[in-house]
Amino acid sequence: MLIRKRNPSDPKPSEITDRKSFHERRRFLQMSSVAAGAMLVPGWLVSEKAHAATKFQDVKPGPFGTDEKLTPYKDVTTYNNFYEFGTSKSDPSRYAGSLKTQPWSVVVEGEVAKPGRYQLEDLLKGRGLQDRIYRHRCVEAWSMVIPWVGFSLADLLKRFEPTSKAKYVEFTTLYNPKQMPGQRRAVLPWPYVEALRIDEAMNPLAILAVGLYGETLPNQNGAPLRLVVPWKYGFKSIKSIVKIRLTEQQPRTTWDAAAPNEYGFYANVNPHVDHPRWSQASERRIGSGSIFAPRIKTRMFNGYEKEVAQLYAGMDLRKNF
Ligand code: MTE
Repeated sequence: MLIRKRNPSDPKPSEITDRKSFHERRRFLQMSSVAAGAMLVPGWLVSEKAHAATKFQDVKPGPFGTDEKLTPYKDVTTYNNFYEFGTSKSDPSRYAGSLKTQPWSVVVEGEVAKPGRYQLEDLLKGRGLQDRIYRHRCVEAWSMVIPWVGFSLADLLKRFEPTSKAKYVEFTTLYNPKQMPGQRRAVLPWPYVEALRIDEAMNPLAILAVGLYGETLPNQNGAPLRLVVPWKYGFKSIKSIVKIRLTEQQPRTTWDAAAPNEYGFYANVNPHVDHPRWSQASERRIGSGSIFAPRIKTRMFNGYEKEVAQLYAGMDLRKNF
């Protein structure tokens, strides 16, 4: 996989608003990268300045696309939740420049035959990257449509050879209050932890993302590696992952520990189960016009019912929210 630094003559991501122009741009990039052959360098060897996005080459279109209008790049990257950088939506894009994403390694431990500390480059080696255009539904009842760049979580987990005791997968975000000023305040128990049941983690929809709109992830979106689980509320999609642990017992997740009545372990998007303080029946699509734009109906499992409903057969989703 090859990536190169942004060329000033390239179209800006904010110019792209729908899938068609996104893929036209991809073709343009592939052509221009041939012309700029001398500038091509192997991915992750590029020294990346804070927020200097680099473009991925050889990203293949992935499954599960949607023809819904993409949320503009500007909204995807300036309206964020990343409490490690503050609790307002604009804080992450303002303050996440202090996060150093190179070098980056991920510790893999617990119920696996091949534990260890893996450099991000090694985790990505030989792993085909895909565009995965997913609906992204936050528990706060807003949503986006985001063209992620990522790879199958299942494929990665298999590489570590989970044992028969591995029932859950726990993910942990970096803990570094110097780089993440929000961690100096006890707004959440740090570090941020999230987890999936192993069969959820093995579902083909679940990915680890390294980019969006064809470029490396901006820090505010969870650089350099984040989870994306599109049938669940956004808080499950943990950012800036430094540890993956496979466990026999259900892990204690950050939001479940902070407010167990409000945020359950499963957190499946479900229009029939309201949050104790607001309805989950509809959502506001970010970037779709003014705040008075009509709300859209929330779909069961965020519209991915066909792909994931069988994971919860026989479970009472009112209790297991
Ligand atoms: N991961 C970490 N480490 N810290 C966070 O505060 N917020 C979560 C999730 N992952 C969060 C996190 C929430 S509530 C949401 S809605 C999504 O990230 C937001 O992802 P986005 O900013 O890329 O849209």
